[in-house]
Amino acid sequence: MSLPYILVLYYSRHGATAEMARQIARGVEQGGLEARLRTVPAVSTECEAVAPDIPAEGALYASLDDLKGCAGLALGSPTRFGNMAAPLKYFLDGTSSLWLTGELVGKPAAVFTSTASLHGGQETTLLSMLLPLLHHGMLAMGIPYSEPALLETRGGGTPYGASHHAGADGKRPLDEQEIALCRALGQRLAQTAALLEKGRG
Ligand SMILES: Cc1cc2nc3c(=O)[nH]c(=O)nc-3n(C[C@H](O)[C@H](O)[C@H](O)COP(=O)(O)O)c2cc1C
Repeated sequence: MSLPYILVLYYSRHGATAEMARQIARGVEQGGLEARLRTVPAVSTECEAVAPDIPAEGALYASLDDLKGCAGLALGSPTRFGNMAAPLKYFLDGTSSLWLTGELVGKPAAVFTSTASLHGGQETTLLSMLLPLLHHGMLAMGIPYSEPALLETRGGGTPYGASHHAGADGKRPLDEQEIALCRALGQRLAQTAALLEKGRG
């Protein structure tokens, strides 16, 4: 049997959400669990080309088994019109078999997002990303205000999950508080998942 891991599952077109995923993965490892980074392919219409099974660079594409076997989940997406991006929603829409068997019930989950504008929908995206995870019976986790960066931030960072303000050109790097909150979320998720796994014996 493999060691418990947190699945850090994200979609990223231009790299900002991918960088958040890497920071969350570091937090997971600081929390004592392995982080498994996985992405999802872009979606295309029927008449468009089909992408190869293995991406040219970066994280591998997630399988249903990656999700089924995880001890906890960190789910990340760029904000698109105040909501998660279609490729991630498409992947989630393909998880009915796990819903039917209740595979994810009782596992902790957290969400993260990146936006171009500071008030362009981080909270709406984060909260709506939690909805399908609640349908799966997962335990939603946020970031507590005992994390000092939550009050200090001038960029992203919310109690509903980690966030990043990438700017209009998408080039603003993660700042100190955004990094601290990504890591805190990953760490909290790992520590909670480890406790729950222990409880299950
Ligand atoms: C179709 C589309 C819709 C978007 N909608 C929003 C939005 O509602 N609010 C916002 O601030 N940024 C929006 N953006 C910008 C992205 O959220 C932002 O560039 C993000 O940092 C990209 O993440 P990535 O680098 O991981 O791809 C949108 C981008 C696209 C392509």
